[in-house]
Amino acid sequence: MKEIKFEGKPYSALVFDTEEEIGRYAAEIVTKKLCEKPDMLLGLATGSTPVPLYRELVKACKEGKVSFKNVRTYNLDEYFPIDTKSPLSFLGFMRENLFDHIDLPDGAIHIPNGEAADADVEAARYEKELFAAGGVDIQVLGIGSDGHIGFNEPGDAYIYETHATDLTQQTIVDNSRFFNDISEVPTRAITMGIGAIMRAKQCLFIATGKNKAQAVKDALTASATPACQASILQFHPNTVFLLDQEAASLL
Ligand code: F6R
Repeated sequence: MKEIKFEGKPYSALVFDTEEEIGRYAAEIVTKKLCEKPDMLLGLATGSTPVPLYRELVKACKEGKVSFKNVRTYNLDEYFPIDTKSPLSFLGFMRENLFDHIDLPDGAIHIPNGEAADADVEAARYEKELFAAGGVDIQVLGIGSDGHIGFNEPGDAYIYETHATDLTQQTIVDNSRFFNDISEVPTRAITMGIGAIMRAKQCLFIATGKNKAQAVKDALTASATPACQASILQFHPNTVFLLDQEAASLL
């Protein structure tokens, strides 16, 4: 592992050879927090990036090293609308990759409801829930190739609250790998806003693969701008940036 420092910036990035190493490093941070605070609030992301981390957390739980029975989880986002029983929903993804393999009670799972009647009403409900929870202890974050975190897509402003959003064409293309055909990719989602992400006591930002290199460069080295939403993390007081060689290749 090597550390990259950025001139004039208070943060650094840790660069690893493999995504498995990142998974182990990130899992150590989460399990340490779990041991200190068994009822921690854990913010979660879907997609390929956190899968090695989730594998490690499942392993740690199966080996009896940690328990999630007092944890509450808060996912960043969910497609809208989506059949939440489908494995293509983010809830389905989380069940398959984490929830079904750990001792987390079903009632402790929080995620926007992709089957709600009205996306805006559901976004407002989720925001209230997040606000009442008071900020997660650790928020796991991936980054889109367009620089999004959660589904806060590039634009001319940061949106503070949970909201319904259109996905960019880039995001739809990127996520089409999970579907049979690009026409099946939902075009909308409900996402945590930048406010809830910035309220996290610690963010675990993970980026792997060549297609993230430009977004990582924009997020970490340029001035913060809503054109690259992840760049707001430059102002987060406690974000750990974990990259593989490819994602770090333009730094
Ligand atoms: C997922 C999420 C997104 C993903 C990002 C990267 O819940 O909020 O921001 O983290 O799109 O996705 P992957 O990891 O599939 O490249």
